[in-house]
Amino acid sequence: MTLSPHATEIRRMFGAVAPTYDLLNRTLSLRVDTRWRRRAVRESLRPGDRRVLDLCCGTGDLALEYARRLGPGGQVVGLDFARPMLRLFQRKRERSARAAVRPSILEADSLSLPFADAQFDIVSVAFGLRNLDGTLEGLREMARVTRPGGRVVVLEFSPPLHPRLAHRLFSLHFRHVLPRIGRLISRHPTAYRYLPQSVEGFPPRERLVEMMSEAGLRVLVARDLTVGIATLFVGERS
Ligand SMILES: C[S@@+](CC[C@H](N)C(=O)[O-])C[C@H]1O[C@@H](n2cnc3c(N)ncnc32)[C@H](O)[C@@H]1O
Repeated sequence: MTLSPHATEIRRMFGAVAPTYDLLNRTLSLRVDTRWRRRAVRESLRPGDRRVLDLCCGTGDLALEYARRLGPGGQVVGLDFARPMLRLFQRKRERSARAAVRPSILEADSLSLPFADAQFDIVSVAFGLRNLDGTLEGLREMARVTRPGGRVVVLEFSPPLHPRLAHRLFSLHFRHVLPRIGRLISRHPTAYRYLPQSVEGFPPRERLVEMMSEAGLRVLVARDLTVGIATLFVGERS
């Protein structure tokens, strides 16, 4: 795998926080993150879908959710470049009795997918697109391996939108509480400061919708979840 210095740093960081990643996810999001992933699957999966690729899969929560919902004969591939994350996914997969489908796990770079064109019914990414060296490049690579009529699914934190109290409180939590708890539990000096910074640097919803079109996708869903803390995007490959 040939990676840029930035991607190498990101890979090292996620490798280091892997042991506490799930615990922090559940604690810091007050478990709302599991609901968001379920919603992503519900809004993207169609009868007859067979092959799903989940990029930046981390410890596998979204891949496992697709595996639970796909019928027999389905196939899910979870892909990530941080091996410690994938090891945790592997353990979770062994324990996941509810899944009809057993996901495959692949260590690779999301910007250089080891697949031919038009292989998958769904290509998803949850909280991963913002970490890639190029958002548009990432979307283009996702669209490339999606079959015409298949869907590209992006679940991502969103830059602040609503001046509503709940959102302001969350912003406060995100910028000040989260980095402190994150540092305490993960013992990583910067990873949980990087999180709010990377969200603020991510393109706003309207720009992401444009980028999806530029990548050859017809946007079907661009929906804010939980007062706009996260946004779900689903685009159909033309
Ligand atoms: C915030 S985690 C999200 C994990 C999971 N999708 C979830 O919903 O919890 C981001 C993941 O993206 C992975 N990642 C970042 N850049 C990547 C790249 N270029 N190729 C593959 N994985 C990447 C990291 O290793 C990390 O596991």
